[in-house]
Amino acid sequence: MEPTKVTIEQESIVSAAIKKHGKVLISVLQEIQKYYKYLPRDAMKFIALKLDMPLRDVYGVASFYKSFSFTPKGKHIITTCLGTACHVRGGQKIVDTITQDLKINPGETTPDHMFTQETAACLGCCAIGPIVVIDGDYYSNMRPDKVKKLIHQTRNGLNKVDIKHDKKIFPIEVICPRCNHTLMKPEHPVDGFPCIHVTISFKRQHGWLRLSSLYGSYNFESEFEIPMDTEANFFCPHCHADLSGTSECPECGAKMILMIVKAGGIVQVCSRRGCKGHLLDI
Ligand code: FES
Repeated sequence: MEPTKVTIEQESIVSAAIKKHGKVLISVLQEIQKYYKYLPRDAMKFIALKLDMPLRDVYGVASFYKSFSFTPKGKHIITTCLGTACHVRGGQKIVDTITQDLKINPGETTPDHMFTQETAACLGCCAIGPIVVIDGDYYSNMRPDKVKKLIHQTRNGLNKVDIKHDKKIFPIEVICPRCNHTLMKPEHPVDGFPCIHVTISFKRQHGWLRLSSLYGSYNFESEFEIPMDTEANFFCPHCHADLSGTSECPECGAKMILMIVKAGGIVQVCSRRGCKGHLLDI
C-alpha cells in the first residue's frame, strides 16, 4: 500500500469515528462521508490502517453502496426520485428542469461546488410524488416551477432565519421539566450558541438532536435524517423523561414539546419536522 498522506483533520475524524463505531466499517464510512460529503482517498487508507484490514476490502464495502461517493460533492445535494410512481407523475420533467437550471446532469456537480444533482430509485413515499430531497429535506408533489423556486431559495439561503438582524430571535437556556438538569450543550453550538441537546425517536430510529437555542430559529442538527412532516418523540438525555407536553401545536395539531426556561417560564416547540409552531410563556 502506498503511504497515506492523511491530514491531521482526517486523522482525528477517522479516529473519532472508529472510537464511536469500533470495527463496524459501514458506520465508520458513513461518519466520514457525513463530514466530508465524500470519502477522501487518504482517509480510506487510514481507515484500512487503523482497522488492520486490506484497503481493497474497505473499497469493496464502500463501492457496494450507491450512497458512498469517492468524488467531492457540492454544498447542496438535490435528489429527484425516478422510481415508477414518481416517474409517471412527472419526475423526469423535474430532472430536466434541474438540469436546465443548474446546467449539470444527474451525477454531476456545479463548477462552483454549490450543487450536486442526483436521482434515486424509490424514496418510500410514492403516494405524494414526485419527491425531491434537498440536503435531507423531503419535498412532495414537486412541479418544475416549485423546484426552480427551491433551488433559488437554497442558493440564496432564504430558508434560513436572519439571526443577526431579527430582533425577535434571542437565546434561551432550558432545563428538563422532570430532573431539572440543563439541556444546554456549549460544546456543540448551533447558530453560534450552545445547542439544546435532547434525544428523539421516530420510526424505530433513536438518536440525538441538537436544536438551536435561539428562540425563533429552526436550525438543528441530528444524528439521523428526519423526513419532513415526521412527528418525533423527544426525551431528556439525562433522566430519559418524555418531554411531550399536554397541548397541541396551534399550527398543525401535533403534540408540543415542553421545556423549562431557566430564567423562568416554559417554552414549547412543535414535535413535527418542518412545522414552525412554538410558544414562549415567561
Ligand atoms: S417512486 Fe418515488 S417515492 Fe416511490
